[in-house]
Amino acid sequence: MASLTIRKLDDAIKSYLRLRSAQNGRSVEEEVRVILREYCEGSPAPTASLTSPSAPAERPVAERANAAGQASVTLIIGGGIAAFKSMELIRRLKERHIDVRCVLTKAAQQFVTPLSASALSHERVYTDLFDPGSEFDAGHIRLARECDLIVVAPATADLMAKMAQGHADDLASAILLAADRPILLAPAMNPLMWNNAATRRNVMQLRRDGIHMIGPSAGEMAEANEAGIGRMSEAIEIAAAVVDILRPPRPRPLAGKRVLITAGPTHEAIDPVRYIANRSSGKQGFAIAAAAQAAAADVTLVSGPVELRDPPGVTVIRVESARDMLHRVEAALPADIAIFAAAVADWRVANEGEQKLKKTAAGMPPLQLVENPDILATISKLKDRRPPLVIGFAAETEHLIDNAKAKIARKGCDWIVANDVSPALGVMGGDRNTVHLLTRDGTDIGVDDIKVDSWPVMTKEQVATELVAKIAKTVEKNS
Ligand code: C5P
Repeated sequence: MASLTIRKLDDAIKSYLRLRSAQNGRSVEEEVRVILREYCEGSPAPTASLTSPSAPAERPVAERANAAGQASVTLIIGGGIAAFKSMELIRRLKERHIDVRCVLTKAAQQFVTPLSASALSHERVYTDLFDPGSEFDAGHIRLARECDLIVVAPATADLMAKMAQGHADDLASAILLAADRPILLAPAMNPLMWNNAATRRNVMQLRRDGIHMIGPSAGEMAEANEAGIGRMSEAIEIAAAVVDILRPPRPRPLAGKRVLITAGPTHEAIDPVRYIANRSSGKQGFAIAAAAQAAAADVTLVSGPVELRDPPGVTVIRVESARDMLHRVEAALPADIAIFAAAVADWRVANEGEQKLKKTAAGMPPLQLVENPDILATISKLKDRRPPLVIGFAAETEHLIDNAKAKIARKGCDWIVANDVSPALGVMGGDRNTVHLLTRDGTDIGVDDIKVDSWPVMTKEQVATELVAKIAKTVEKNS
């Protein structure tokens, strides 16, 4: 009977066999047997698939190695007492629909058996660099590449030293040296080993090499009366880190765009202790700032006095009055998109008292009001530095759409987000909002050309996400 040497087959056939065997969890040799058996039983030969070569070596993480679209991990289990936690890690990864192929170092097999790893992963377990069953077609290369991520848990001091030095004298280190996928280490060792200068150097080197790490954490050691940093992170934490690394990169539709947002009320001083204000909470403007930041925009938020924390990654400028707000908005230009969500006081007190006003026999002090600058209108009408997309808000208690349409025309902005702020609806200060987005293209058109898109009731975060998605679409269309 003739024998077949897989190494001597065409590259396309070898690629096809590797892909198919990885998908089916079989060795290439077993896969060939299955194909031949299927063929003898009358199944068509798999010629069509041979024309499409296997995936390129450099895949983005989001593009799954597994043909079923399921993420897959090669889990290298090092030799340490924490190896028992890796059995739970397999379960946690499987729960998250992640395929796991385990590699056990020689030392790991002193703590856990290949049989338990295989039973939990439902896959063959790999232990030997020179295993004739997998190495005839360079199995360590496949284990390094036919996955989305390589996890080493526990990552012992020895394994990390080998990695840092580029050794490849056993299956685990050979996989790590041949890897073109991200690598996550979950170190576990005695605290003295973790703090040893050699380990510190290796950790630093591995971090510089772009290796991800989780833990170790502090706690009791397996050794009696020893505690300190060196415990392997819990399986659930490692699984969460795996999911984080495997998550497709977030879209960045507003990358490189400057977004300027106003939010909150303004306070207009009557005297040093009293002011005119309104009920705006600033929640909607802050939510828009967070959503724009999540879309990778460079966001500046100019906010009146509110009780909200700065959204992470956003430049927040806190102001009091409408005039402060206008100055800070003008100073923050240029911007690609400006969103005026602030409830700016229309009037301020003309004769602001320098001292606290006193009750007098003459009766109430007369408060003269003067109009505040309209920030939205001022910025919309700028000649040189007008942002290409200017969005205003219209908070109304009656004739919402008609008033909002008139406002677009009067203020000269491009879009208006109109919402009904009648007290019965609880929008002011509340967490939900029902909005209508009014849009117009170009400046010389009448109110009848304004499009109105009415959205269902949503949380203010959802409104923000939706609005930012619309902005991103428009920016993309216009670029
Ligand atoms: O005229 P009204 O206050 O209803 O207009 C609301 C819109 O105008 C909002 O976008 C608000 O931020 C903006 N505005 C402003 N400056 C003002 C008054 C309102 O930017 N002084």
